[in-house]
Amino acid sequence: MKILNFGSLNCDYVYSVHHMVEAGETLASSKMETFPGGKGLNQSIALARAGAPVSHAGLLGEDGDFLLDIASSSGVDCSLIERVDGRTGHAIIQLDRTGQNCILLYGGSNRRITEEYIERVLTHFGPGDLLLMQNEINLPERIVELAHEKGLVIALNPSPCDDAILSIDLNKVSFLILNEVEGAMLSGEPDLEKAPDVLLQKYPHMKIVLTLGKEGAVYMDKDTRCHHPIFPVETVDTTGAGDTFTGYFLTSMLENMPAEEGLKLASAASAIAVSRMGAASSIPTRKEVEDFLKERT
Ligand code: RIB
Repeated sequence: MKILNFGSLNCDYVYSVHHMVEAGETLASSKMETFPGGKGLNQSIALARAGAPVSHAGLLGEDGDFLLDIASSSGVDCSLIERVDGRTGHAIIQLDRTGQNCILLYGGSNRRITEEYIERVLTHFGPGDLLLMQNEINLPERIVELAHEKGLVIALNPSPCDDAILSIDLNKVSFLILNEVEGAMLSGEPDLEKAPDVLLQKYPHMKIVLTLGKEGAVYMDKDTRCHHPIFPVETVDTTGAGDTFTGYFLTSMLENMPAEEGLKLASAASAIAVSRMGAASSIPTRKEVEDFLKERT
């Protein structure tokens, strides 16, 4: 089975601040650093570092060569990534002293996906292959439709959650990895606690992972339900932790690990990621995650 991750690539400009800037406020930052990021790229790197064979599809502008470098050196197949005129997508990230962030996205090349490009990419994949998607590129609903027509199994991380996500036919999605707010939006159920059950009633074929921040993560399908707490660590930067979790959890599913073991693996990987700076560059290798688990158990 081949894995296609169709997603964004971003230059992350990270500004260290005392607190998040407020409306009308002008705030000095103490540091600015540039890191590789984008939910798509982060998740491809997490898959590859977890040991899964992944091809990334997405568009880079005239800049952003360092995004290709980190993807290839992590083991991601980058042969389907194409270049367009103009700037690569970027994110302006405020990072406060507790490690929490606020992210402002500029789509750039990530919003230049065309139907022709989607078709070109999909010629390399067929029935039983896996498509992973997030929501930082344009035409997400077309990618899901065309991939489903070709018999690909679809995994969706509906993040960031906005109206574009509502245009995706969730009947076509087999794996849904999301947080509580995304769960409430997709289910239409305002009670965050009830949202995942509503989703599972509507889509009983789905395997759902709900991340709960400090409360850990829950897995549910029609037969199973399990929870794993977080591994407490000193938080340096939470950026990319969710992407690390997604890549590692999907890898565990593809390796047929029991869901509880998959949650443990993914929780350990994201604990390591939050203890380091940056998004893509904070994602641990499988060996680092296994060593971390040996120390903790
Ligand atoms: O999920 C973290 C990512 O969100 C960052 O790397 C940033 O690029 C934004 O896309």
